[in-house]
Amino acid sequence: MRAEVLAAVGRVCASQHYILGSEVETFEHELAEFCGASDAVGCASGTDALWLALAAAGLQPGDLVLTSPFSFFASASAIARAGARPLFADIDPRTFNLDPAQVESFLRGSRRDKLRAMLPVHLYGQCADMDSLQLLADEFRLTLIEDAAQAIGARWKGRTAGSMGVSAAFSFYPTKNLSAYGDAGLVTTNDPEMAAHMRRLRNHGSPRRYIHEELGWNSRLDAMQAAILRVKLKYVEGWNEARRRRAARYDQLFAAAGMTSTDGQPESTAPIQLPLTSAQAHHVFHQYVVRAFRRDELREFLSARGIGTEIYYPLPLHLQPCFVYLGYREGDFPQAERAAKEVLALPMFSELTEDEQRWVVKSIADFYC
Ligand SMILES: Cc1ncc(COP(=O)(O)O)c(C=O)c1O
Repeated sequence: MRAEVLAAVGRVCASQHYILGSEVETFEHELAEFCGASDAVGCASGTDALWLALAAAGLQPGDLVLTSPFSFFASASAIARAGARPLFADIDPRTFNLDPAQVESFLRGSRRDKLRAMLPVHLYGQCADMDSLQLLADEFRLTLIEDAAQAIGARWKGRTAGSMGVSAAFSFYPTKNLSAYGDAGLVTTNDPEMAAHMRRLRNHGSPRRYIHEELGWNSRLDAMQAAILRVKLKYVEGWNEARRRRAARYDQLFAAAGMTSTDGQPESTAPIQLPLTSAQAHHVFHQYVVRAFRRDELREFLSARGIGTEIYYPLPLHLQPCFVYLGYREGDFPQAERAAKEVLALPMFSELTEDEQRWVVKSIADFYC
């Protein structure tokens, strides 16, 4: 890609047009088409994409938005930053995504007049159960916004992440499956008016130069990032397929080593539980995340062998110090809390070799025997 990326950078430098402009518009068009949405609005980060989506949904101060407690911080902080109050329901222990049964019992069990929106997260590259969540959103008149930051190219029953909600937020942070050379984000929507509103909001609420009809902010996408993302977008399906093959290979290697279970249930006695993919999901494995017995010791052991792992995420959102004012306590979301203690993301990228994967699995086997 090197020559293509450098050519794209050279094109932007030659144009001297560094912010928004035709590169960004073309990227928005191509990305919308990739996701099966009518519109896309580029912005400065995935965090800002969430903020834009929430602000354009018309949230008022004091409104409530339901999301997953087991996600990156921005899923909840963007809600607070948009002037609303985050609320949580527990996750499905098998997929780590918002559990529709928990959402339903929450919605039926409480009077939530000010609940306006639901923000499911497609964690690790696997879509949340969008059919069940859509039914609940329809019944309770909630705006459904996807946090698709980790899920470019993922699908749920053939529908692409970014085409299912009223809007969807993407991140192109450098570790993502489609990544920029810095920070970048984007919102997709099928509502052209909402897209036009988000275009104003990302540019100081300004429909015309120096005229400000409402308060927005500066969250424009750089032309350089858009030009690079346009090059990489052509490869993302191939990279996603490569990740899926590597996930399948991990599954096989762990099974051959006799260490695993995929049931996601707490009573499992296997030292490693593999990630479960829903039958309806086309998972793009932004991360390959196992549950591990003695997780922190295993992580240190692997680190000593030069194997990098990560914990996404060690503290659930309802227990974050900045959200004390929400009034949640330990024990409120047992599945999210348990996941935070057990999950371990293993090396996953499209160039990972079979030998490297064998070394990871052998090292884990060595740790437990
Ligand atoms: C689930 C989720 N939501 C939101 C974000 C925020 O994206 P960004 O880092 O581009 O602001 C991320 C990225 O880290 C994410 O993983």
